[in-house]
Amino acid sequence: MKILATRRYPGPAFDELGDVEVGQLQSRDDVEVLVVANEPLDASHFPALRLVANFGVGYDRLGVEKLHRRGITVTNTPGVLDAATADLTWALILAARRRVVEGDRRVRAGEWTGSWADGFLAEELTGSTLGIVGLGRIGSAVARRAEGFDLRVLSTRRSGGTPLDELLAESDILTIHAPLTPETHGLIDARRLSLLRDGACLVNTARGEIVDEDALVAELVSGRVRAGLDVFAHEPRVPEALLPLPNVVLTPHLGSGTRQTREAMTRIVVDNVLAFERGEELVTPVER
Ligand code: DGY
Repeated sequence: MKILATRRYPGPAFDELGDVEVGQLQSRDDVEVLVVANEPLDASHFPALRLVANFGVGYDRLGVEKLHRRGITVTNTPGVLDAATADLTWALILAARRRVVEGDRRVRAGEWTGSWADGFLAEELTGSTLGIVGLGRIGSAVARRAEGFDLRVLSTRRSGGTPLDELLAESDILTIHAPLTPETHGLIDARRLSLLRDGACLVNTARGEIVDEDALVAELVSGRVRAGLDVFAHEPRVPEALLPLPNVVLTPHLGSGTRQTREAMTRIVVDNVLAFERGEELVTPVER
């Protein structure tokens, strides 16, 4: 089968695909399998397309419904990136809440006065309330790690859990772990952001579009809340107004960005493609 991959995906498993072309998503008559990383996709440019193997658990940019309508199979890589994404979430929680990046900048700028009592204070983690929006695989991994920090944990789930408005109003730290769907697009809007307590910290390692980015920027510019952001609405563009702010920690979509996790993601991509070629059951199909 003719396979086009948008890059050489990390790890040795990639070589098992054999004769793969690495290139951009430009119109092609012969390509039957695309290996992509959630890039926007126009299937009409690939008339022979039969399988889209997505490197990543989130497939919100692929237009899966349209692909399915054309009879194209889609796979993703759930399960293997939960720990890495939960770990990065905690790195952002700790960095934002304990002002780690600000502290680092102070040291580098020679602004450390030598006194411990110079007013550079952060907020305690222990005893605070962590609100988890979406208690799926990644949200649950974040919740498990919270036990070590003696936090009170509240969460929303697909059915049940704490009502979202209540979760926002109660949380000292709010962390988002829902998939991006029409239902979650703009879910944390200006009204909901205003429910956050003064000094609360919002962490997003899911998708930028789940939060109204302009409203979040306004809240951060006002200094009322803090944030740790790994995802943005128009990646790789980051709102310029955030760049000088001390109360936000910014990372470039690193959630799954460990060698072990990215290699495990490639393993699943390759297993799906090989299974498809052999006519065997797929490992992780995206359900229709
Ligand atoms: C995913 O798997 O959806 C991640 O965002 C990729 O890092």
